[in-house]
Amino acid sequence: MNILVIGSGGREHTLCWALKKSRHTEELYAIPGNAGMARIASCVNIRLADFGAICAFARERKIDLVVIGPEVPLVGGLTDALSDAGVRVFGPTRKAAAIEGSKAFAKDLMRRYNIPTAPYRVFTDSAEAIKFAREQDGQVVIKADGLAAGKGVLLPESADDAAAAIQKVMVERAFGEAGSKILVEQCLAGEEVSVMAFADGRTYSMMIAARDHKRVFDADRGPNTGGMGAYAPTRIMDPEIMELVGSTVIGPAIDGMRQDGCPFTGCLYAGLMMTDDGPRVLEFNCRFGDPETQVVLPLLQSDLVEIMMSCIEGELDLEQVQWSDEIAVCVILASRGYPGKYDKGIPITGLDSVTDPDTYIFHAGTTLDEGQVVTSGGRVLGITGVAGSYERAVAKAYEAIDKVRFKGMQYRSDIGYKAGVDRKARTRSRGRMHYTRRRDY
Ligand code: AMP
Ligand code: GLY
Repeated sequence: MNILVIGSGGREHTLCWALKKSRHTEELYAIPGNAGMARIASCVNIRLADFGAICAFARERKIDLVVIGPEVPLVGGLTDALSDAGVRVFGPTRKAAAIEGSKAFAKDLMRRYNIPTAPYRVFTDSAEAIKFAREQDGQVVIKADGLAAGKGVLLPESADDAAAAIQKVMVERAFGEAGSKILVEQCLAGEEVSVMAFADGRTYSMMIAARDHKRVFDADRGPNTGGMGAYAPTRIMDPEIMELVGSTVIGPAIDGMRQDGCPFTGCLYAGLMMTDDGPRVLEFNCRFGDPETQVVLPLLQSDLVEIMMSCIEGELDLEQVQWSDEIAVCVILASRGYPGKYDKGIPITGLDSVTDPDTYIFHAGTTLDEGQVVTSGGRVLGITGVAGSYERAVAKAYEAIDKVRFKGMQYRSDIGYKAGVDRKARTRSRGRMHYTRRRDY
């Protein structure tokens, strides 16, 4: 089969890597891809917004399967455009992608199908929103309705803070039009987990639960980012809790969307808060998580092309999706300054000195400059270690990081820590594995 992956981040490199392993894959293409993807796929420079050119390319190269990574083209209807052109796509239609594209849509779905989530109100008027937030004593979370590149959620610490946040989103339009409508919802406490599921519109198959680390600095300090690392599985998500998430969250969402006339085909992602009262949905995404994909797909033992084709053909119930019982830990290497301003075009060295077969370097923001791999984004690389224990997986990732260099490289030194590396083990191994050391070149 000829396969085309849309996107250029760590998630898409991981998708390419997993698809490349399939016995069905002949030609693999990426639009636009990155320096890592270029090693395993032919990268083609077409703008993601140019649906016409993407459809023409898919037809011309006789693409049998398109896999769309990012939310923006999904929410914009690239699946619909490709399907109309007769090309098979793994990814939801524009209507179904609204589960991520509009938080109000997602909340309404959850309300109507009894999917547990935080109580909330939707506002289009800032004065009313501020009044409501003050009534809640500021114990609220402010969310822009539309897509805001993962930044549209504000967590105020007081009622005044909440009022300022509403002002910023609705009046100053800090996230543009995404802030014309906002949600004010109750602030929940608990552990966060990401659960993704393959879905064919009717049936779903849950992947291994992962834990993302959104804050830029160790111990969850500093501003939110797109994700600084992840691990899978998470210890709290035992089979019983996974079953509960399936029957109360993923299942009702898939059933509800089918009943509403917008069946969901693709990867459905639920960001959950595990509260004392059970799982609560923080958000749905219409695509694979980034960096969750970098830890979940390395644990997939089944053929990804076969699973995706089963989703497209509505035959996921016939598929036995197999997972490894190993552990995967991914640490993101980011540019100095990220998630704020950062430099690009910085040469990366040492990539070829990572030779361990269970350590993977997934490129996120990289490009080729006259044959040299250079940085081109805030999140530059994701290094995933896979092993039989959390400790070994953590060690593999950080051992590889010691070999890779670029000026200004920053990363968290505590990824996987919560998963089970106890303090004693960390202190003991400090000298050897360097993973309590924060490096900033
Ligand atoms: P989202 O983009 O909706 O995943 O939100 C970004 C982050 O904000 C989440 O990963 C949570 O850490 C936090 N968050 C979102 N909603 C809530 C909530 N209701 N209570 C507490 N934290 C939340
Ligand atoms: N890692 C969070 C996300 O993909 O939305």
